[in-house]
Amino acid sequence: MTTATAAPATTPHLREDLLTPRFYTTEIEKAARTDLNGQRPAFEAMLNEMETDYNRDHFDRKAPLDRLRDLSPEEKQAYESYLVRSCVSEFSGFLLFKELSRRLFQAERPELGRLSQLMARDGARHAGFLNRALVAEGLTLDLPKLSTRRPITWFPLSWVLYSVFLSEKIGYWRYILIDRHLKANPDNNFAPLFDFFEPWCQDENRHGDIFNMLIRCWPGLRQGLRGRLLSRFFLWSVFLTHSLTVCERGDFYRILGMDPAGFDAEVMRQTNRTARRAFPWVFDLEGSRYLELRDRMVACHQALQTGKAEGAGPLRQLGRRLHFGGLLLEQFLQPMVPASAG
Ligand SMILES: [Fe+2]
Repeated sequence: MTTATAAPATTPHLREDLLTPRFYTTEIEKAARTDLNGQRPAFEAMLNEMETDYNRDHFDRKAPLDRLRDLSPEEKQAYESYLVRSCVSEFSGFLLFKELSRRLFQAERPELGRLSQLMARDGARHAGFLNRALVAEGLTLDLPKLSTRRPITWFPLSWVLYSVFLSEKIGYWRYILIDRHLKANPDNNFAPLFDFFEPWCQDENRHGDIFNMLIRCWPGLRQGLRGRLLSRFFLWSVFLTHSLTVCERGDFYRILGMDPAGFDAEVMRQTNRTARRAFPWVFDLEGSRYLELRDRMVACHQALQTGKAEGAGPLRQLGRRLHFGGLLLEQFLQPMVPASAG
């Protein structure tokens, strides 16, 4: 059995690179100055919904999560790597919400503190479930230890609002698309964990709606050049991380009988469409070269990784890096459309 405690320097299947989920903190004093007045009805509705806790009985701690069929060593590795990444990112959300909640209560904003506390509750449940699926695989992640070992990244509040909105919504689409696929292809459903995804994704959806409301509490964030830049940068960077991760870990989606590139594109299309409700601008995915550039970028990234593994010459690698950089820039600059259009 591999345990994070037995080997403190590494966590199984969690390589340290740009695609590794991170831990965040933000300007909490500023968050405590959030003006809820303009969003009162939306705020009350969401707080009520979170208090109702529709998924209270869903995450049954006794439900067995043992796999239903054998996997080859490569498939097992792909499945476990998916679990580890998902668990770490759920835990990272939990920590951010917990810290926000603690500090918002301290700053005498009990309503905002409570809302964050309820989002932390969901994050802890999700991370706990993924952790249990890992235990069923014979793996143990020491999450609290992991969070003290990894650096905590500081983000301005506006960045946290935009990026958490997107990561919750992209999480929603990821879970629901896997769920729909497995309902249509039950023979590919090899782990009981997936049976929990449908109500699970509703938690992500609610958190995304809460962040949409919080963005609206700061009207300047959606206006002018600032709104345009924030929309462009976060859509682009969240999609980029998604494409590279899904394509690099394509084996996991193939065990589920899914085409990784097709899944990635559908997640992007749906998330981009959902972002229209929160951001002033979104990418024009259909009318631009965005997805074609995605394919070229993924291929170039793979060539870079293979080159690294095979010890390719520095000039060759430099060429690939420059080419990759050029593709990134071209994709970043693809046309956007105002969210109100279409
Ligand atoms: Fe979650």
